[in-house]
Amino acid sequence: MRTIVSMPGDGIGKVVLPEAIRVMEAAGFNANYVHGDIGWEYWMKEGNALPERTIKLLEEHKTGLFGAITSKPKTDAENELAPELKGKGYVYFSPIVGLRQRFNLDICTRPCKAFKGNPLNFIRKNATGGFEEPLVDAVIFRQNTEGMYGGIEWTNPPANVRAALETHPKMKGFAHVKSEDMAISTRIVTRGATERIIRAAFEYAKKFGYKNVTVCEKPNVLRETSGMYLTIAKSIAKEYPGIELWDTNIDAQMMWLTKNPEIYGVLVSENMFGDIISDGFAGLVGGLGFACSANVGEEVAVFEPTHGSAPKYEQLNPSIVNPIAMILSACMMLDHIGETEKSDKIRAAIAKMIEEGKVRSYDMMKLRGGPKAIEQGAATTQQITDEIIKNL
Ligand code: NAI
Ligand code: MG
Repeated sequence: MRTIVSMPGDGIGKVVLPEAIRVMEAAGFNANYVHGDIGWEYWMKEGNALPERTIKLLEEHKTGLFGAITSKPKTDAENELAPELKGKGYVYFSPIVGLRQRFNLDICTRPCKAFKGNPLNFIRKNATGGFEEPLVDAVIFRQNTEGMYGGIEWTNPPANVRAALETHPKMKGFAHVKSEDMAISTRIVTRGATERIIRAAFEYAKKFGYKNVTVCEKPNVLRETSGMYLTIAKSIAKEYPGIELWDTNIDAQMMWLTKNPEIYGVLVSENMFGDIISDGFAGLVGGLGFACSANVGEEVAVFEPTHGSAPKYEQLNPSIVNPIAMILSACMMLDHIGETEKSDKIRAAIAKMIEEGKVRSYDMMKLRGGPKAIEQGAATTQQITDEIIKNL
């Protein structure tokens, strides 16, 4: 039997991950789940939000399901460390970013596919005053390990870094700024990783019949890094004659989301831009309660909802958060390991629930989150899962 590393993490990660396992079991997928420690609790107790033992588990078992973690600003992180760890030089680093980098989980896939009947779907007013609801079906491929989120950054850059930057003529404009008044984040893009993400996007388009792949960057301004994306995309596109290559600028793309989002199929971007467009598209198909993702490397793969730990709902009993993003992430895991029959069955069960509209989470009812939501007719997290299981 397959072993899966289950990493609920913090807050509502602990609520939704068990629900996903419940649905998979009901769909006939049996596995061993081993618990992986990750998140704020371990930062406070051990000064490490991603303990080495969790890395070992993933090295051994290769597949992980992840809930969410809590991250806090630098000073809060220091203040919440156990007293005996304070002042010892521990630095907080996001464990999910850590996982992506440690296992080179460079390909992040975020499908944003509307379910028919979801009250949160994008609608558009047409010229005659009526409304239409084009069904958005976009899949974002986000480079996950480098670019703007590569973590190579400084406030008060060391003298040799500054000197190296000063070899660039444009640094003259900053000559009068003291290093301690300067913050730098780099955007390093490499040919190998860029080829891998763009090829993954085209392969996905080919496999699932999408007609276009859009490189969403900003090559007119970020001439080097976005330029590399576009050049490589043009060259790879030649190997996929049936699929059109489109290129858009990230800013314009965000505007077009409100105009004609249904025309886009697969999109591919560097880390930060991929983060931005995937949130944008997710907003058109139901938002955080529906946004699932996969982080796939050559060996290890970790599946997670896009949302965070939503601390304000952590203690709510019964819980009202939407487990669908987590369950859809689990479906992506099933796809990855070849259990597509079960994942298709689960997605169909979710689709049926949404289309029937009898069981609705608070976000689908557009209610304010909180204990009152249940009195107002929202289903609890567990009731949503139960309904999905009933529909299997
Ligand atoms: P969040 O995603 O945790 O929550 C934002 C809001 O979205 C919530 O207050 C809630 O209204 C809604 N929401 C989120 N998940 C939902 C669900 N399953 N069903 C219904 N509604 C849902 O983002 P926020 O508040 O910015 O961050 C909270 C903590 O989570 C922070 O510590 C942050 O660093 C962390 N975070 C972790 C991520 C991860 O683990 N990958 C990603 C994003 C944030
Ligand atoms: Mg994000």
